[in-house]
Amino acid sequence: MAHRGASADAPENTMAAFNEAWRQGADAIEGDFRLTKDGQIIAMHDGDTGRTTGQKLVVSKTDWSTLKKLDAGSWKGAKWKGEKIPLLSEILASMPQGKGIFIEIKCGPEIVQKLSEVITQSKIPRKLITIISFNKEVVRAVKKHDPKLTANWLLDLKPKKGEDISSKLAKAIQTLKDIKADGLGAKAVDSLAAKLGSTLKQHGLGFHVWTVDAPAQGRHFVKAGVHSVTTNKPAKMREFLEGQ
Ligand code: G3P
Ligand code: CA
Repeated sequence: MAHRGASADAPENTMAAFNEAWRQGADAIEGDFRLTKDGQIIAMHDGDTGRTTGQKLVVSKTDWSTLKKLDAGSWKGAKWKGEKIPLLSEILASMPQGKGIFIEIKCGPEIVQKLSEVITQSKIPRKLITIISFNKEVVRAVKKHDPKLTANWLLDLKPKKGEDISSKLAKAIQTLKDIKADGLGAKAVDSLAAKLGSTLKQHGLGFHVWTVDAPAQGRHFVKAGVHSVTTNKPAKMREFLEGQ
Protein backbone atom coordinates (compact mmCIF):
# COMPACT_ATOMS: atom_id res chain seq x y z
CA MET A 1 0.00 0.00 0.00
CA ALA A 2 1.67 3.19 -1.18
CA HIS A 3 1.43 5.79 1.60
CA ARG A 4 0.22 9.15 0.20
CA GLY A 5 1.24 7.52 -3.10
CA ALA A 6 4.90 6.53 -3.51
CA SER A 7 5.66 9.55 -1.35
CA ALA A 8 9.37 8.93 -0.82
CA ASP A 9 9.85 9.47 -4.56
CA ALA A 10 7.19 12.03 -5.52
CA PRO A 11 5.16 14.78 -3.79
CA GLU A 12 2.61 13.20 -1.44
CA ASN A 13 -1.06 13.04 -2.38
CA THR A 14 -0.51 14.18 -5.99
CA MET A 15 -1.13 12.31 -9.24
CA ALA A 16 2.67 12.10 -9.62
CA ALA A 17 2.88 10.09 -6.36
CA PHE A 18 -0.10 7.87 -7.18
CA ASN A 19 1.18 7.15 -10.70
CA GLU A 20 4.64 6.44 -9.27
CA ALA A 21 3.01 3.93 -6.90
CA TRP A 22 1.52 1.99 -9.84
CA ARG A 23 4.86 2.18 -11.64
CA GLN A 24 6.55 0.69 -8.55
CA GLY A 25 4.11 -2.22 -8.50
CA ALA A 26 1.98 -1.24 -5.50
CA ASP A 27 -1.22 -3.25 -5.05
CA ALA A 28 -2.99 -0.19 -3.72
CA ILE A 29 -2.58 3.47 -2.81
CA GLU A 30 -3.35 5.33 0.40
CA GLY A 31 -4.30 9.00 0.32
CA ASP A 32 -5.64 11.67 2.69
CA PHE A 33 -8.90 13.42 1.88
CA ARG A 34 -10.83 16.49 2.96
CA LEU A 35 -13.89 18.49 1.89
CA THR A 36 -13.41 21.93 0.38
CA LYS A 37 -15.72 24.81 1.31
CA ASP A 38 -17.84 24.10 -1.76
CA GLY A 39 -18.09 20.37 -1.06
CA GLN A 40 -15.44 18.86 -3.34
CA ILE A 41 -13.24 16.02 -2.05
CA ILE A 42 -9.53 16.69 -2.48
CA ALA A 43 -6.31 14.91 -1.52
CA MET A 44 -4.62 16.87 1.26
CA HIS A 45 -3.08 15.61 4.49
CA ASP A 46 -3.02 18.79 6.55
CA GLY A 47 -5.95 21.04 7.39
CA ASP A 48 -4.31 23.80 5.40
CA THR A 49 -2.19 23.91 2.26
CA GLY A 50 0.84 25.68 3.74
CA ARG A 51 3.31 22.81 4.00
CA THR A 52 2.77 21.33 0.53
CA THR A 53 1.98 24.42 -1.58
CA GLY A 54 3.72 27.32 0.20
CA GLN A 55 0.41 29.18 0.35
CA LYS A 56 -1.55 28.68 3.55
CA LEU A 57 -5.25 28.23 2.84
CA VAL A 58 -7.60 26.30 5.14
CA VAL A 59 -9.14 23.58 2.98
CA SER A 60 -12.58 23.65 4.64
CA LYS A 61 -12.78 27.43 4.15
CA THR A 62 -11.58 27.58 0.53
CA ASP A 63 -13.35 26.76 -2.74
CA TRP A 64 -11.97 24.21 -5.19
CA SER A 65 -11.62 26.91 -7.87
CA THR A 66 -8.89 28.51 -5.70
CA LEU A 67 -7.25 25.32 -4.42
CA LYS A 68 -6.91 23.86 -7.91
CA LYS A 69 -4.53 26.67 -8.92
CA LEU A 70 -1.95 25.85 -6.21
CA ASP A 71 1.40 24.20 -6.93
CA ALA A 72 1.58 21.05 -4.77
CA GLY A 73 4.81 19.75 -6.30
CA SER A 74 7.58 22.36 -6.00
CA TRP A 75 8.14 21.77 -2.27
CA LYS A 76 9.44 18.29 -3.14
CA GLY A 77 11.66 19.44 -5.99
CA ALA A 78 11.75 21.59 -9.13
CA LYS A 79 10.94 18.52 -11.23
CA TRP A 80 7.38 18.55 -9.86
CA LYS A 81 6.66 22.28 -10.29
CA GLY A 82 3.04 22.78 -11.26
CA GLU A 83 1.80 19.44 -9.89
CA LYS A 84 -1.79 20.02 -8.79
CA ILE A 85 -3.87 18.98 -5.79
CA PRO A 86 -6.07 16.18 -7.19
CA LEU A 87 -9.78 15.54 -6.64
CA LEU A 88 -10.70 12.11 -5.31
CA SER A 89 -12.71 11.59 -8.51
CA GLU A 90 -9.58 12.18 -10.63
CA ILE A 91 -7.58 9.69 -8.58
CA LEU A 92 -10.28 7.04 -8.84
CA ALA A 93 -10.55 7.61 -12.61
CA SER A 94 -6.81 7.00 -13.00
CA MET A 95 -6.61 3.72 -11.10
CA PRO A 96 -5.51 0.68 -13.09
CA GLN A 97 -8.10 -2.08 -13.18
CA GLY A 98 -8.01 -4.39 -10.16
CA LYS A 99 -5.90 -2.08 -8.00
CA GLY A 100 -7.11 -0.83 -4.63
CA ILE A 101 -7.30 2.38 -2.63
CA PHE A 102 -7.34 3.27 1.06
CA ILE A 103 -9.19 6.58 1.36
CA GLU A 104 -8.22 8.22 4.65
CA ILE A 105 -10.78 10.74 5.81
CA LYS A 106 -9.09 13.60 7.63
CA CYS A 107 -12.25 15.65 8.25
CA GLY A 108 -15.50 14.58 9.95
CA PRO A 109 -18.61 12.59 8.98
CA GLU A 110 -19.95 15.54 6.94
CA ILE A 111 -17.94 14.10 4.03
CA VAL A 112 -19.71 10.72 3.94
CA GLN A 113 -22.66 11.50 1.62
CA LYS A 114 -20.42 13.07 -1.04
CA LEU A 115 -17.83 10.30 -0.59
CA SER A 116 -20.41 7.64 -1.34
CA GLU A 117 -21.59 9.56 -4.43
CA VAL A 118 -18.06 9.99 -5.82
CA ILE A 119 -17.32 6.29 -5.31
CA THR A 120 -20.57 5.28 -7.02
CA GLN A 121 -19.84 7.57 -9.98
CA SER A 122 -16.34 6.10 -10.35
CA LYS A 123 -17.81 2.63 -11.01
CA ILE A 124 -14.90 1.08 -9.11
CA PRO A 125 -16.14 -2.04 -7.30
CA ARG A 126 -16.59 -1.33 -3.61
CA LYS A 127 -14.49 -4.37 -2.74
CA LEU A 128 -11.40 -2.48 -4.01
CA ILE A 129 -12.08 0.52 -1.79
CA THR A 130 -11.40 0.86 1.94
CA ILE A 131 -12.22 3.93 4.00
CA ILE A 132 -9.89 4.56 6.93
CA SER A 133 -10.02 7.21 9.65
CA PHE A 134 -8.72 8.07 13.11
CA ASN A 135 -12.18 9.57 13.68
CA LYS A 136 -14.41 6.75 14.86
CA GLU A 137 -17.52 8.77 14.02
CA VAL A 138 -16.42 8.76 10.38
CA VAL A 139 -16.12 4.96 10.42
CA ARG A 140 -19.50 4.64 12.11
CA ALA A 141 -21.13 6.98 9.56
CA VAL A 142 -19.57 5.19 6.56
CA LYS A 143 -20.82 1.77 7.74
CA LYS A 144 -24.30 3.21 8.40
CA HIS A 145 -24.60 5.09 5.11
CA ASP A 146 -22.87 2.63 2.77
CA PRO A 147 -22.46 -0.76 4.49
CA LYS A 148 -20.85 -2.36 1.44
CA LEU A 149 -17.80 -0.15 1.90
CA THR A 150 -15.02 -1.59 4.03
CA ALA A 151 -14.05 0.83 6.80
CA ASN A 152 -11.14 0.54 9.22
CA TRP A 153 -10.42 2.55 12.33
CA LEU A 154 -6.88 3.92 12.72
CA LEU A 155 -5.23 3.77 16.10
CA ASP A 156 -1.85 4.24 17.74
CA LEU A 157 -1.76 1.58 20.45
CA LYS A 158 1.81 2.22 21.55
CA PRO A 159 1.68 1.69 25.33
CA LYS A 160 2.73 4.54 27.58
CA LYS A 161 5.06 3.68 30.45
CA GLY A 162 3.37 1.20 32.78
CA GLU A 163 0.21 1.02 30.64
CA ASP A 164 -1.62 -2.30 30.40
CA ILE A 165 -1.85 -3.13 26.71
CA SER A 166 -4.38 -5.92 27.22
CA SER A 167 -7.06 -3.63 28.60
CA LYS A 168 -6.24 -0.95 26.00
CA LEU A 169 -6.64 -3.53 23.25
CA ALA A 170 -9.86 -4.91 24.75
CA LYS A 171 -11.31 -1.37 24.73
CA ALA A 172 -10.23 -0.92 21.11
CA ILE A 173 -11.91 -4.18 20.09
CA GLN A 174 -15.12 -3.06 21.79
CA THR A 175 -15.00 0.27 19.92
CA LEU A 176 -14.33 -1.49 16.61
CA LYS A 177 -17.45 -3.59 17.20
CA ASP A 178 -19.58 -0.62 18.34
CA ILE A 179 -18.81 1.36 15.20
CA LYS A 180 -19.10 -1.76 12.98
CA ALA A 181 -15.55 -1.35 11.67
CA ASP A 182 -14.16 -4.09 9.44
CA GLY A 183 -10.67 -3.83 10.83
CA LEU A 184 -7.92 -1.87 12.52
CA GLY A 185 -5.16 0.18 10.94
CA ALA A 186 -2.45 0.18 13.59
CA LYS A 187 0.64 2.32 13.93
CA ALA A 188 3.65 0.05 13.45
CA VAL A 189 4.76 -0.87 16.97
CA ASP A 190 6.90 -4.00 16.60
CA SER A 191 6.29 -5.33 20.12
CA LEU A 192 2.51 -5.37 19.52
CA ALA A 193 2.51 -7.18 16.16
CA ALA A 194 1.89 -10.76 17.34
CA LYS A 195 -0.73 -9.80 19.94
CA LEU A 196 -2.58 -7.59 17.47
CA GLY A 197 -2.47 -10.29 14.81
CA SER A 198 -3.91 -13.02 17.03
CA THR A 199 -6.50 -10.82 18.77
CA LEU A 200 -7.87 -9.24 15.59
CA LYS A 201 -8.03 -12.65 13.89
CA GLN A 202 -9.91 -14.08 16.86
CA HIS A 203 -12.52 -11.32 16.47
CA GLY A 204 -12.74 -11.65 12.68
CA LEU A 205 -11.29 -8.16 12.14
CA GLY A 206 -8.82 -7.01 9.48
CA PHE A 207 -5.27 -6.06 10.50
CA HIS A 208 -3.38 -3.29 8.69
CA VAL A 209 -0.24 -1.41 9.61
CA TRP A 210 1.34 2.02 8.86
CA THR A 211 3.90 3.37 8.00
CA VAL A 212 6.65 0.84 7.42
CA ASP A 213 9.66 1.67 5.25
CA ALA A 214 12.20 -0.82 6.63
CA PRO A 215 11.68 -4.12 4.78
CA ALA A 216 12.58 -6.24 7.83
CA GLN A 217 9.85 -4.48 9.79
CA GLY A 218 7.42 -5.25 6.95
CA ARG A 219 8.36 -8.92 7.20
CA HIS A 220 7.82 -8.83 10.98
CA PHE A 221 4.23 -7.66 10.47
CA VAL A 222 3.58 -10.07 7.59
CA LYS A 223 4.62 -12.90 9.92
CA ALA A 224 2.12 -11.56 12.46
CA GLY A 225 -0.66 -11.96 9.87
CA VAL A 226 -1.12 -8.40 8.65
CA HIS A 227 -3.40 -7.92 5.61
CA SER A 228 -1.60 -4.85 4.26
CA VAL A 229 1.60 -2.92 4.86
CA THR A 230 1.46 0.81 4.17
CA THR A 231 4.83 2.16 3.00
CA ASN A 232 6.35 5.26 1.42
CA LYS A 233 8.58 2.94 -0.64
CA PRO A 234 6.40 0.31 -2.34
CA ALA A 235 9.01 -0.99 -4.81
CA LYS A 236 11.58 -1.64 -2.10
CA MET A 237 9.02 -3.35 0.16
CA ARG A 238 7.61 -5.53 -2.64
CA GLU A 239 11.07 -6.58 -3.81
CA PHE A 240 12.07 -7.60 -0.30
CA LEU A 241 8.85 -9.42 0.61
CA GLU A 242 8.75 -11.32 -2.69
CA GLY A 243 12.32 -12.44 -2.14
CA GLN A 244 11.41 -14.07 1.20
O1 G3P B 1 -2.52 4.82 6.80
C1 G3P B 1 -2.65 5.58 7.95
C2 G3P B 1 -1.63 6.67 8.02
O2 G3P B 1 -1.56 7.30 6.78
C3 G3P B 1 -1.95 7.63 9.12
O3 G3P B 1 -1.00 8.63 9.27
O4 G3P B 1 -0.43 11.02 9.21
O5 G3P B 1 0.25 9.58 7.37
O6 G3P B 1 -2.14 10.17 7.62
P1 G3P B 1 -0.83 9.90 8.33
CA1 CA C 1 -2.83 8.95 5.74
